[in-house]
Amino acid sequence: MFLEAVQISKRFPGVQALSEVDISLAAGEIHAVVGENGAGKSTLMSILIGLLKPDKGDIFIDSKKVVLHNPIDAQRMGIAIVPQEINLVPMLSVMENIYLGIEPRTLGGLMVDWKRTEREASALLERMGESINPKHKIKDLPTAQRQLIQIARAFAFKSKVLILDEPTASLTIRETENLFKIIRTFKSQGGAAFYISHRLEEMKEIADRVTVLRDGKKVTELSPKTASVHDMIEKMVGKGIARSQEPRKYQRGAGRTLLRVENLTRAGEFYDVNLELHEGEILGIAGLVGAGRTELVKCIFGDSIASHGDIYVGSKKIIPRTPKVGIKNSIGYLPEERRRLGVFPLLTVCENMTLPMQRQIVSAMGINKRKETALAREYVEKLSIKTKDLREKISNLSGGNQQKVILSRWLLIGSKIVILDEPTRGIDVNAKAEIHNLLKHLANQGLGIILISSEIEEVIENADRILILHEGRLKGEVDPKQTSQEEILKICLT
Ligand SMILES: Nc1ncnc2c1ncn2[C@@H]1O[C@H](COP(=O)(O)OP(=O)(O)OP(=O)(O)O)[C@@H](O)[C@H]1O
Ligand SMILES: [Mg+2]
Repeated sequence: MFLEAVQISKRFPGVQALSEVDISLAAGEIHAVVGENGAGKSTLMSILIGLLKPDKGDIFIDSKKVVLHNPIDAQRMGIAIVPQEINLVPMLSVMENIYLGIEPRTLGGLMVDWKRTEREASALLERMGESINPKHKIKDLPTAQRQLIQIARAFAFKSKVLILDEPTASLTIRETENLFKIIRTFKSQGGAAFYISHRLEEMKEIADRVTVLRDGKKVTELSPKTASVHDMIEKMVGKGIARSQEPRKYQRGAGRTLLRVENLTRAGEFYDVNLELHEGEILGIAGLVGAGRTELVKCIFGDSIASHGDIYVGSKKIIPRTPKVGIKNSIGYLPEERRRLGVFPLLTVCENMTLPMQRQIVSAMGINKRKETALAREYVEKLSIKTKDLREKISNLSGGNQQKVILSRWLLIGSKIVILDEPTRGIDVNAKAEIHNLLKHLANQGLGIILISSEIEEVIENADRILILHEGRLKGEVDPKQTSQEEILKICLT
């Protein structure tokens, strides 16, 4: 075994994140780690990269015991990570971010060789099937491309072991395929990887071995050749998944119009978009990365400003110049990139649910502090949010559980229109089913929901109508009951 971790335990105040976990990695092996949100996957990886110290347990590299004091130690031993949350410097360029700290140098190491950095960055991105200008700033790139840059950075380290913590979360099918191609090449050259993903179907395609964690313990090891996705889920959750049987209340598109968008345009991003959202409806917006979906809903909420076009909530015309306008008009918005836009890392779970900027509304609704806490507790229960208590800092929750907290923020203040941009990214199968059930339940209560997801299947399974946006323009509407992933892709591309 190239890498071996033995009997690893790690405790955080109030939670045993890992208990005596054994895991190993052979050269040329892709070893997947799966488990529900909060199972301990990222904690285990943080230990293997030297970011966290285990309370107990040893790590061996090439059969030699090592102590990793920090990520630089790990890097020296050939281990690099693509972290779960994007961790790049927005103001720096793509190539600077890829090679930060490991820039090719010239003049005996005195100067960064920018020409070579650019050349190598281009070549690397090209191998990944991406045409991203290495000189562009990170802040100008959409989330998916940022994630690709983060992956490129790990490859640039020329490591022997890669740790990929949900690398495909915001990638589309095509980008995921490209990533798999690169991983396979890496593997054929003797590289090995730990691979974390909530997309269990990926395991069959990429993993040689699957370790299942549940509540910090290793439950079992499976071979993706023989184990089905269903087997994995069963081991992860210890039970099957409960899909909602609740019948839908509203006829397709028959409810009152909650939101109407007319000829909405934001130059360079999307053009002449017309849409209506009705009471009791889940409206899906499908499209490839870069289609303009996020930009469109940001304008509706007031997070960016349209160049022209009109937005009506009910019969009232609104001009959303700031998110406040959206919030005042009962629009809730769950942004795509939770770390940058959604989560307030220094605040508690409860505070993140009942954000200060919503204070006004909250008090106008006659909700006092006590009621607020009760509501927060109710949603922790409803969405099965795994947290020690409401006063836990949100940054101590696992990624998926943070997402659930932000989702409850909007539900809790009673938004009538809820816009969800990739709501289940990074969320485990069970919690995902719970969120899907919840969306249908909320629609039955008369809410209008806009659902954006790169997982076309998710849109097909949950939406009542699907609009297809491609390169900033609406290309049509399909009935989810009579469409398929292939048809939607075809409409995008023709
Ligand atoms: N710094 C920390 N302080 C306190 N508790 C923590 C900290 N980091 C993680 N935890 C807790 O440890 C447990 C394991 O979290 P971890 O992030 O490893 O889960 P995960 O399997 O990666 O989940 P996800 O799929 O949501 O990313 C969770 O209960 C989490 O709340
Ligand atoms: Mg994690």
